Amino acid sequence: MSQPSATLLEAEDFTPEDLEVADPVVFPLDDPSEDTQRALHKIWARHQLTPYLRRWEEAYVPPIPDAIWAFDWRACDVGCGFGMFVLRESAHHPSRAYLGIEKGTRRGIGLAKRAQASEQNNLFAVHGNAIPLLAEIPDQSFDLITLFYPNPWWPTKHRKKRWAFHPLLPKLVSLLKPNATLLLTANERFYLCEWLYALRHHPDVAPFLVEDYVGPIQETVGRTHFEAKYLEHAIACGEIRFKKKV
Ligand SMILES: C[S@@+](CC[C@H](N)C(=O)[O-])C[C@H]1O[C@@H](n2cnc3c(N)ncnc32)[C@H](O)[C@@H]1O
Repeated sequence: MSQPSATLLEAEDFTPEDLEVADPVVFPLDDPSEDTQRALHKIWARHQLTPYLRRWEEAYVPPIPDAIWAFDWRACDVGCGFGMFVLRESAHHPSRAYLGIEKGTRRGIGLAKRAQASEQNNLFAVHGNAIPLLAEIPDQSFDLITLFYPNPWWPTKHRKKRWAFHPLLPKLVSLLKPNATLLLTANERFYLCEWLYALRHHPDVAPFLVEDYVGPIQETVGRTHFEAKYLEHAIACGEIRFKKKV
């Protein structure tokens, strides 16, 4: 089995804030507070992706390389950091395409360099914001969409940026092929509770999904740099996987 070099998978530097946990993960997950549920339903009812995307009208949105469409099986890792998951998986599965998208400057540039150095023609790395980019991709394009340890956006005033609140959420689900998997991991319990509630109750999302797994991550080796760090520091993490209905 092919394996990317250790240099390509090298861990990034972490700040103490990266290891901060406000609400440690324990199962089972509860529904979010009534206030949060109300806020979720209110924002879902008002959601409109097209007006939201106007903020990128004048911006450069990097294209997805056409070569990705030559593959029958495609995965997308949203906010992939330096790309450990896509680097490793694309090496293990040469017949499958892996798209990693990262908007951060340091991680995005690092991702692009590592992907180029890997010389894998099934690995597609894009340094840019996943939101306008994914909005343009045809529905039913992916067999797997992963969201590993998204930014928790802790303060309530920032909660609209969390994926459970986000106008892109219905599009994320539309992007899945039948039987495809949507996977999210987090080291904050409240984030998992909100996400689970959204997938179970969002009117434009819930009817299309079936629950596959809700529980602690089942890994001993980190799939991503953040996961590796959390495992090293014994920080509890949870995983939620849903499948698109056939
Ligand atoms: C906490 S880090 C996790 C990185 C990686 N998934 C991991 O587990 O190691 C979250 C990453 O998501 C990226 N991100 C957040 N929103 C994004 C977006 N809209 N498009 C692309 N990247 C995004 C951030 O820049 C950051 O690098």
